Formats: sequence, C-alpha cells, structure tokens
Amino acid sequence: MSVTKSPLIVSSQTAPNKNLAKLVQKYQNSEWQDSIPKQALNAFQMANEFVSSNKVILDSGCGTGESSYHLAEKFPEYKVIGVDKSTERLQRSHVYGDRPVNLLFVQCDCVHLWGLIKEAMWNIERHYLFYLNPRPKPGHLQRRWHGHPVFPTIIALGGVLTMRTNWKVYAQEFMQALEISCSAEVMMNELVLEIDNAFTPFERKYRQSGHQLYEVVITL
Ligand SMILES: C[S@@+](CC[C@H](N)C(=O)[O-])C[C@H]1O[C@@H](n2cnc3c(N)ncnc32)[C@H](O)[C@@H]1O
Repeated sequence: MSVTKSPLIVSSQTAPNKNLAKLVQKYQNSEWQDSIPKQALNAFQMANEFVSSNKVILDSGCGTGESSYHLAEKFPEYKVIGVDKSTERLQRSHVYGDRPVNLLFVQCDCVHLWGLIKEAMWNIERHYLFYLNPRPKPGHLQRRWHGHPVFPTIIALGGVLTMRTNWKVYAQEFMQALEISCSAEVMMNELVLEIDNAFTPFERKYRQSGHQLYEVVITL
C-alpha cells in the first residue's frame, strides 16, 4: 500500500532560539492565568468527577486518541484523560473500539485545562505531549509550549513528563527550558521504534516517512 509521505520540517531556525533562556526565566517569575471560558470550566468539572481521588495519566493534544487508548490499556490502575481542542479529531476516537472504563476524552484548550488541573492538585503520575504542533518559524517561539507563559504550569503538574517530536530543534529547546526551570535530570533520546510499534497516528506517519523522532523525559 502506498503511503503519503509527510515532508520533513523545514525551518530557517537550525538551533535553539537564543532568546529562549530569557523568555523561560521571565515566565518562571510571573503568575500567568488566561481567562477561563465557561466551556473549559464545564470540561474540567466533568474530568474532575471522573478522576476523583485517583492517580492520573494525562495525554495532552491527544488528537484522535489512539495513544490514550494504549495508555488506558497499559495502566488500568490509573484514570487516563485524553485532551484535545479539536472536536472533530476526538470524534474519530471511536475507530479504536469500545472506550476503556478508565479513559475519558475531554475537548478543551490545554492552556485552560492545565491551569484548572494545577489548582485542583490532581495527582499526575505521567503526562504525555506527543507530536505537538512544531511552530517552526523562528518568530514563533512563544507559540511552542516551552516558550509559552503556560510552561511553568506544565511543570507544576508534575509526574513523569514525556514529550515527543520529529523536529530536533523543538526537542533541544524543550530540554533546555526544562533544565533552566527544574533541578531534575532531563533525558533526550533519539527514538528507535518499528512502524508497527507506533504509539500515535503522527508517530506512525513520521516513521513511515523516514523521519528521525526525538523524546524528552523528566521526572518532575
Ligand atoms: C500534530 S497533532 C498530534 C496528535 C497526536 N498526539 C498524535 O501524535 O497523533 C497535535 C494535536 O494537538 C492539538 N492541539 C494543539 N494545540 C492545542 C491546545 N492548545 N489544546 C488542546 N489541543 C491542542 C491539535 O488539535 C492536534 O490534535
């Protein structure tokens, strides 16, 4: 079967942005909170009831939710929350079969949900950020999660944080931002995996297209 190749990320930025450290430090020292829309509050309330006092695995930007299904099956003792802002993507999750009882999908902007989760002090065991939108234009640093004012909130959520990307510069910047913000050791690996073992649709597409994949992991 022929597969449509995904193009490699093309950017005039070939190394971590020189302004990254200054930006991360600026946000580290500021309390940032966007105004929360009612829809986000409702989404959080539903998720909060589902989670109750259980330990949680968060799959942020889960897309169609394939990785959330895998996580729910792998970790039946935890509640898994798959969150994405796209209703259309989340609606496609039914193709993976019956939803495991420990899995809930939440349609919400992560920026809002993360703040509410932090306030509610959920017990986050693991937090996954799989194949975020790379925003490869050099001027788009603040649209990447590590250049966004919400980055300290991501860190405050705790747990084992795992980020995967097909853009090396994104992985390097994410690692640097964590090193600036946290004392814990940060690991960056080149992922070696068979296409059949792809964890998410984007991971599968990138592997089929021959892209090198990167993973950054920290225990917060
Ligand atoms: C490149 S896709 C990756 C999807 C999935 N993780 C995968 O690996 O197949 C990025 C996903 O992040 C979601 N996303 C981007 N920004 C978001 C935000 N602020 N809040 C929630 N979801 C977001 C998009 O809707 C999209 O589904």
